[in-house]
Amino acid sequence: MEEGISRIGVSLPKSLLDDFDNIIKRRGYSSRSEAIRDAIRAYIAEYRWLESEKGEIVGAVVVIYDHKIHGVSDAIINLQHEFSGIITSSMHVHLNRDQCLELILVKGEMEDIKRLVDRISVIRGVLNIRLISAMKELKD
Ligand code: NI
Repeated sequence: MEEGISRIGVSLPKSLLDDFDNIIKRRGYSSRSEAIRDAIRAYIAEYRWLESEKGEIVGAVVVIYDHKIHGVSDAIINLQHEFSGIITSSMHVHLNRDQCLELILVKGEMEDIKRLVDRISVIRGVLNIRLISAMKELKD
C-alpha cells in the first residue's frame, strides 16, 4: 500500500451508492476512490468555511429530511423553538411521499446559527442541510 494512504470500509445504503456512482460516472471520474476523496475534501472545505464566518448574518437553512424516520419532525420543530431568538420564519414543503424540505430563515450571530446547523445535521433522518448566508448589511 502507498505510504500515507489509509484504507477504510464504509457501509452505505445501496440507493445512496447507486446515486453516487451515477453522478461520478457522468462527471468522468475514473475511480470511486478518487470521487470519494474529492467529496471528503469538499465536505472539509465547506465545514472550514462555516467555521471561519463570524459576526451577524442573515441567511437560510435548507433541510431535507425523511419524515418517516421516527422523531425527526419533532426534533426539528423542537430545535426551532429552542433557537427562536435567531429564527425569523420557516416554511415546510412536502417534497414527495417520504421527504420534506424545511426552509428556516435566520438572522443573528454566525456562532449561534452554526450551532443550530450542527444540531440539525446530526438528527437521524436528516438527509441534507445547507446554509446560505449573506451579510446583514452591505456597504455601498
Ligand atoms: Ni412534509
